[in-house]
Amino acid sequence: MNEKRDSLFSELKQIKTKLEEISISDLFNSNPKRFDDFSVSLDDMIFDYSKLHINKDVLSKLFDVAKICEVEEKRDAMCRGDKINITENRAVLHTALRNDINKPIYVDGKNIMPDVAQVLEKMKAFATDIRSGKILSSSNEKFTDIVNIGIGGSHLGPEMVAKALSPYCDGPKVHFVSNVDSSHISDTIKQLNPATTLVIVASKTFTTIETMTNANSAKKWLVNSLGEKAANLHFAALSTALEKTKAFGICDDRVFGFWDWVGGRYSIWSAIGLSVMLAIGAEDFQEFLNGAYEMDEHFKTTPLEQNMPIILGLIGIWHTNICDYATRAILPYDERLSRFTAYVQQLDMESNGKRVTSSGEEVQVKTGSIVWGEAGTNSQHSFFQLLHQGTNIVPCEFMLAVNNHEDDMKIHNDLLIANCLAQSQALMNGRDINEVIQILKENGLNEEEIAKLSPHKVFKGNRPSSTLMYKRLNPKTLGKIIALYEHRVFVEGAIWNLDSFDQWGVELGKELATKMLSHLQDSNTDKENMDASSIGLLNTIKSWNEDK
Ligand code: F6P
Repeated sequence: MNEKRDSLFSELKQIKTKLEEISISDLFNSNPKRFDDFSVSLDDMIFDYSKLHINKDVLSKLFDVAKICEVEEKRDAMCRGDKINITENRAVLHTALRNDINKPIYVDGKNIMPDVAQVLEKMKAFATDIRSGKILSSSNEKFTDIVNIGIGGSHLGPEMVAKALSPYCDGPKVHFVSNVDSSHISDTIKQLNPATTLVIVASKTFTTIETMTNANSAKKWLVNSLGEKAANLHFAALSTALEKTKAFGICDDRVFGFWDWVGGRYSIWSAIGLSVMLAIGAEDFQEFLNGAYEMDEHFKTTPLEQNMPIILGLIGIWHTNICDYATRAILPYDERLSRFTAYVQQLDMESNGKRVTSSGEEVQVKTGSIVWGEAGTNSQHSFFQLLHQGTNIVPCEFMLAVNNHEDDMKIHNDLLIANCLAQSQALMNGRDINEVIQILKENGLNEEEIAKLSPHKVFKGNRPSSTLMYKRLNPKTLGKIIALYEHRVFVEGAIWNLDSFDQWGVELGKELATKMLSHLQDSNTDKENMDASSIGLLNTIKSWNEDK
């Protein structure tokens, strides 16, 4: 399979060399239907990839790559519950969490859908009762604030979604604590009243050191103020490790479980979404799940040529493996998606930042693009200089909501949209030297001044970008967008032949941090095999430590 894929990659590289003779804007000039040919829609969402440097030959070869790499077969294997997470011997079934309850999915011969439905119902009942005040705090008050303590997938998803859906948040105010840095929990709880705060400990494993340290500090805060017994009424847990949640002192009816076939970075649809449900309500959360379900159905049933996640994934392959672009920028012109890039960083880079294939061989092609970005228009006043005139080409993924939620602020929306469209246009068309000289002449500059200034004002253009545009960022649309990005990661991982669902790369650092902690707490530990830099830093820390 890899040889056939790599030979298609070689053919694609040849096509690319020829294509370099034609600019993206010339591709538009020679095909008036280019926008139609290179865009795909799903309901109220359109993905426009016509401003990429591709043509029909490129696309058709990329579809061949998808076929050779059996992307559709692998997708079907994932969705029916095959154990495609080889290194952990686990199924990968985040799609089950938003599946129609009546469509069975089997893991180890058992239909998992009744369990999925049961936890979802338990979450809905709990969220509804907290929001209505049926469940009260230990002092018989309504909960006003929720603190979600979790990290990685147990944080990035809930935080991003809560922010994205803030116009729909009409429940208790949700706060997020993730970093083990004491400032994070301390700055969060100091603004809160313990008597009306519910702390949710979100951890798939319930062992993650950052989360458990923060959870213990939160417990101390609650116990100090409310007493041990009352404090327990201010906790809930989201985890697969039910015996550990019990040991922490959280009663079973406040524990919301999930399963080992839900990866951390794919867990927003599971009990991990409880803080979001508390904020937006059960109905809107269901809409969020429905949106993802619609994208799943599209992914599962649409032919390659119109399949949005497959097209996104193949574009990723084009940019990483054929064009050799190491990074890509995600640019949501949608302030409420300002945490989306951070979310996709975990989703994409923890999934596909791998150097061996599923079967353990070194990969022979580049994998895992580096994702970065910022919400527009802030990004324009920051790194767009490099995007327009730097020597690195960075494919840009614009995201744009056509309607805002602020009816009386149309001018903001018009400006936002205008900027987004203008940036993708500027990246593609650029501005050549003749136009620059003409403008400078019109501005009254003399020849010497023009010669000095003009090179700095040239934009070479021909820089690729795509635009994902949607009517409005509502729960359903957000569900679709996240599922789209999940499946895109899947498609790339399938082509690279990776296990996109493990994350061994995070383990070594965790292990060493545990050892380092013992060196920090006891300066007499054996440091014989330690490098001189670490010893030097430890010694300096010891001499600077003001607690000593
Ligand atoms: O950083 C590694 C990781 O395992 C992520 O995959 C996961 O989302 C995060 O830690 C948190 O894990 P847990 O939910 O088990 O606390």
